[in-house]
Amino acid sequence: MQKLLMDVDTGIDDALAIAYAASIPHMELVGITTTYGMAPVDYSYRNTRKILEYAGVDVPVFRGAEKPLQRTREYSGRIHGTDGLGNTLGPVTEVASTQHAADYLIEQVYKHEAALTIVATGPLTNLAMAIRKAPEIAGLVGSVVIMGGAVMTPGNVTKFAEANIIIDPEAASLVFGSSLPITMVGLDVTRKTLLTARDVERWREGRNHLGKSLAPCTQFYLDAYKELHPYLQGCALHDPLAVGVAAYPDLVQTVPMFIKVDLEEDALGRTTEDIHREGSGQPTTKVCVQVDADTFMQDFFQRIG
Ligand code: BDR
Ligand code: CA
Repeated sequence: MQKLLMDVDTGIDDALAIAYAASIPHMELVGITTTYGMAPVDYSYRNTRKILEYAGVDVPVFRGAEKPLQRTREYSGRIHGTDGLGNTLGPVTEVASTQHAADYLIEQVYKHEAALTIVATGPLTNLAMAIRKAPEIAGLVGSVVIMGGAVMTPGNVTKFAEANIIIDPEAASLVFGSSLPITMVGLDVTRKTLLTARDVERWREGRNHLGKSLAPCTQFYLDAYKELHPYLQGCALHDPLAVGVAAYPDLVQTVPMFIKVDLEEDALGRTTEDIHREGSGQPTTKVCVQVDADTFMQDFFQRIG
């Protein structure tokens, strides 16, 4: 059976992605590593455990990076709330001490090798730390599905850059510069999978426990999108789509490419085709350019409420 490890910064759409992943029968969710991102890492850790509780599954969770490799991180709370889950859970009271996420990632690659798919839906710091420590895992792991970047469309933080990439561009550069077998699920496709007010209403009013639990934070996310990205008419299911692509690769059409992450300030975090990579052989990244949004949305809503 396909083994799935998620690396998350939970985050409202990460929460939806975790709930979705836990419900897909042909994938075994072996563990979840957490990082700072939309909120500090203790929040991501606590939020992840809470979502697993809502979903009624018991999966080990690991605490990872507290900050980007070289930069600092400030949190606005605008899209995900100051607690990462739309201010539905409030401050963190319990602080966990676990094996570091990067070490767990390395261990799991060695354990499952080609059977393992890693789905990363936050800044790529944990993955970069793992690659730095054990570069050989790039040749062992089955695949790495990354929600991040934008090749053909504008960014969502700057006109060039997507959030997960620009938060830790050095980590993203290291990851995309490695020989990891990556599928890049960027804004090019995630902006086409939208959850609407009607969907949240159905969860809120329905009888499904999971849908009911996820409705309040999803409403916050939807409201934030309405204010910040009104042209979209819904909120983007960025992170759930990465899980969908891991589970059903045929949902997307991809183009093989080497990806370069810009580190110059004028285009920081931009992801473009790396046409100058030397001595490089076949491209290691598959960039998703089209998605069968209807099939994905149907599966997502069938599994969650
Ligand atoms: C990404 O940034 C976060 O807001 C989301 O959880 C997603 O992983 C989208 O740019
Ligand atoms: Ca995320």
